[in-house]
Amino acid sequence: MKNIVKVDPHAPERRTIERAAEILRAGGLVAFPTETVYGLGALALNPHAVRKIFTAKDRPDWDPLIVHVHDLAMAHALMKRLLPQFELLVSRFWPGPLTLVVEKAPQVPDEVTARRATVALRMSWHPVAAALLEATVAPIAAPSANRFGRPSPTRAEHVAEDLGDRVDLILDAGPTPMGVESTVLDLTQSPPAILRPGGVSREQLEKVLGAVQLATGVADEVARAGLAGPGMTLKHYAPRAQVELVENREELLARADKLRHEGKRVGVLDTATTIERLAQTVFAQLRDLDAQGVDLILCVLPPPQGLGLAVRDRLLRAAGKGTPT
Ligand code: TXA
Ligand code: MG
Repeated sequence: MKNIVKVDPHAPERRTIERAAEILRAGGLVAFPTETVYGLGALALNPHAVRKIFTAKDRPDWDPLIVHVHDLAMAHALMKRLLPQFELLVSRFWPGPLTLVVEKAPQVPDEVTARRATVALRMSWHPVAAALLEATVAPIAAPSANRFGRPSPTRAEHVAEDLGDRVDLILDAGPTPMGVESTVLDLTQSPPAILRPGGVSREQLEKVLGAVQLATGVADEVARAGLAGPGMTLKHYAPRAQVELVENREELLARADKLRHEGKRVGVLDTATTIERLAQTVFAQLRDLDAQGVDLILCVLPPPQGLGLAVRDRLLRAAGKGTPT
C-alpha cells in the first residue's frame, strides 16, 4: 500500500519523520509504533484533527484519547496542577508503558477528553514515537490504531487491515516490542486506580505508591475467573471468531477434541510460553486465527501476576467477558 513507509525502529530516518510531522501539522492522521502497540496520531491541540481519529476508528465519542508527550514540560502544560504522585511515578516509569490520568489544563480540547475534566498522559520510549514528538514539538493524541472493538495492532499490517486509506501515513517499524497496551492509572482517585492493567504491573506500581486499587470492571473480571461459558456482554479487543477460555491444558485438549468431532474448526491460542512472549503475540495470534477462518478459539488463561494481569484482561475481553474501556 502506498501510505505505508518503513522506518528503522532504532534509528528512525530523519526525512521519514519530517514527512510524518508535516502531515500531522497539516491536520492529518499518522499511525506510528510505540513500545506497546501502534497508535493513531493527530495533533492533540487541533480539535478538527482529533475528530478525524474518532471517524477513522469508528470510535464512539464518549471514549477519551491518550495524549503522548515528548517531555515533562509538555506534560505539565496539559495538567491543571502539579502532583507529587505524578512526579514520583514519572521519575520511575517514564518513558514507558504507563498512562497517567490527571486533571486537565483548560487548553486540552473537549474532543480529546470526551468532555471529561481529566486527561490521560503518556510518554513512550519507542525511538519512532519519541522522534515524531520531537519533530512536531506538540502533544499527539493517539489511541490504539485499530478499528473500535478489534484487537490492538502490533504490526503495521494490522493497521492497514483495519484503517486502510482512512490514515494518511503508517510508519512501519516492524512488530512492537511489548504487545499489550500501557497501564492506565487514575491519579484523581485515592488510592490511585488501575483503569486498565498493562505494561507496568500492579506490583511495580505498589512498590512506589503503596496500595493501588483495581477499578471495578477490572477487579470483577479478575475475581470471577470468568470461565463459565461464552458471555453475551460487550466485546472488546475481539476477533470475529468466538473465544472460549479454559482452566488448563488438559481441559483444552479435551474441549478441542469434542468440538472438532462436532465439525467445528478450532484454533488454539499458544499460551505455553513466557508471559513476555505471550504479551507480544496475543493480539497477532487472535488476528491470525481469525484470518484462518476458525469458528472458535480456545485458550488457557495465564495467572494474574505481573504482565499476566494485562494479558488475562485482554483475553477475557476478547471472550466477551470484559467491560469496555
Ligand atoms: O499503549 C497504549 O496505551 C496505546 C498506545 C498507542 O499509546 N494506546 C491505547 O489507547 O491503548 P486507547 O485509546 O486504545 O486506550 C486508552 C484507554 C481507553 O480505555 C480510554 O477510555 C482510557 O484510556 N482513557 C483515556 N483518557 C481517559 C481519561 N481522561 N479518564 C479515564 N480513562 C481514560
Ligand atoms: Mg484501544
